[in-house]
Amino acid sequence: MRTCFIIGNWKMNKSASEATAFVRELAQQVTDLAGIHVGITPPFTALHAVREALGPAPLFLLGAQNLFWEEKGAFTGEVSGAMLKDLGCHFVLIGHSERRQYFGDQDAWTNKKILAAIRHGLHPILCVGETLQDRDAGNTNLVIQRQLRAGLAGIESPSLADMTIAYEPVWAIGTGRAASPEQAVLVHRMIRGTIDELSGLDAGRHVRILYGGSVTPQNIADFLISEEIDGALVGGACLDSACFATLITVALDSKPATA
Ligand code: 13P
Repeated sequence: MRTCFIIGNWKMNKSASEATAFVRELAQQVTDLAGIHVGITPPFTALHAVREALGPAPLFLLGAQNLFWEEKGAFTGEVSGAMLKDLGCHFVLIGHSERRQYFGDQDAWTNKKILAAIRHGLHPILCVGETLQDRDAGNTNLVIQRQLRAGLAGIESPSLADMTIAYEPVWAIGTGRAASPEQAVLVHRMIRGTIDELSGLDAGRHVRILYGGSVTPQNIADFLISEEIDGALVGGACLDSACFATLITVALDSKPATA
């Protein structure tokens, strides 16, 4: 059974002190996750402070927004998997469309980053998604299959079956124009089929697939009601603790708990 996973992607928001205050507020509003997973991804500069604020038995999983694939060395401005693991990170986002758009992240890089994450015991979350231009040209499947085949090259089961993929249509990110649940379901099914092909087995049914793009407390239930959608990657709606707490509460009501 695939455990529901709700992740708040903070992007470049919150100083370490703002992050600490946020985590304390959230922990007051959400005290039991009843078998679903909730993750937060502060900026690198706030990871340590958030880890401390979460305490010895953290309710929320800590994640990073990116990593670099080398172990260490002369790579100014970069952060390795080992460094993230040492800070208590559990998972890492890889290939977010903002990384691809503004920082030149390519499919070959996402592959190296996923392999580095696995090497360091970090759970990789590969983000894929098409632009509006891709969709209008009828290339949604083509683009996402390219991102998956290149990003997941050389990754075999059980690592492949253990992966989480986040489907985030670029046109839905930060626009208030979420994909319809029907649109998301079609893409999620295609992703599972592609993972089956890549694995040569039936890894597709084990892979957790999240939807991201203008998810809010008001629309999240419409996505989670589908068996195809295993959670959400949330941007804007995760930055206010009351809003994110409401969203988590709706998710708890929408998905059956797993052990
Ligand atoms: P929004 O929820 O703000 O659309 O952002 C989605 C996103 O990019 C999460 O990674």
